[in-house]
Amino acid sequence: MTFDEAVLALRAAGCVYAEDEATAIWETYDEPSLRAGAVTDRSSGRPLEQVVGWAQFGPVRVALAPGVFVPRRRAEALLEPAVALKPDARVVVDLGCGAGALAASLASLLPSAEVHGVDVDEAALQCARRTGGFHVHHGSWWSGLPTSLRGRVDLAVAYLPHVPTGNLSDIHHDFRAHEPDLSVDGGPDGLDPLRAVLADADSWLAPRGAFVTLLARQQVPPGFEVVAEDGDDVVVVHRRARS
Ligand SMILES: C[S@@+](CC[C@H](N)C(=O)[O-])C[C@H]1O[C@@H](n2cnc3c(N)ncnc32)[C@H](O)[C@@H]1O
Repeated sequence: MTFDEAVLALRAAGCVYAEDEATAIWETYDEPSLRAGAVTDRSSGRPLEQVVGWAQFGPVRVALAPGVFVPRRRAEALLEPAVALKPDARVVVDLGCGAGALAASLASLLPSAEVHGVDVDEAALQCARRTGGFHVHHGSWWSGLPTSLRGRVDLAVAYLPHVPTGNLSDIHHDFRAHEPDLSVDGGPDGLDPLRAVLADADSWLAPRGAFVTLLARQQVPPGFEVVAEDGDDVVVVHRRARS
């Protein structure tokens, strides 16, 4: 298969950026059979990032595999406000780190920080270990982190599952068919994961620590400070209550 034939095949399959996608496949694979296989895989609807095994996110290249949540560029909006809020952070955690997009980016942007990521999805964690740059832990939200971090987290970030269960069908069908429900389903109002994280936040955050996340504008609960806005997305901060 030539490059031009790949572009035609991808375009026929409905890929809007067929040339860019063929370029990514050509850059990733040298073998003609692997290139043709990747074009077929992508044409069947698998997200490009899972086909090529990587996604560019902020300053890092994130390792990916079939079935693993694909980092969304919209979550890059979290990085700048998080770094601006805690430029001297010593301990940073990414709750629900997936393949490591936010954790690896923050490790790169805050080189003196000790960065930890935690997730329950072992397939995503295997990618996170390949992405590298931070400590990877298996477990549920805060409880998956080493207990030595309790009360010492200067900056916690999360791009949580926050799609209301009833709206899951709004997700683009390529992603919907190839990502676990666990990575997107936020329960009836989309806020179950946020409530679970907030329940323990103050016991893990350091005295002046902050938790930063991205939500849809209409989901922002009381008590959150809005620090950035991008269309319908808002970056919000919860600061540890003074004790
Ligand atoms: C929207 S994805 C974000 C992944 C990653 N932070 C990113 O931006 O690419 C949400 C992540 O939360 C993880 N997750 C869901 N429930 C969890 C739990 N109870 N504890 C830890 N992680 C969880 C999912 O496996 C998924 O990787």
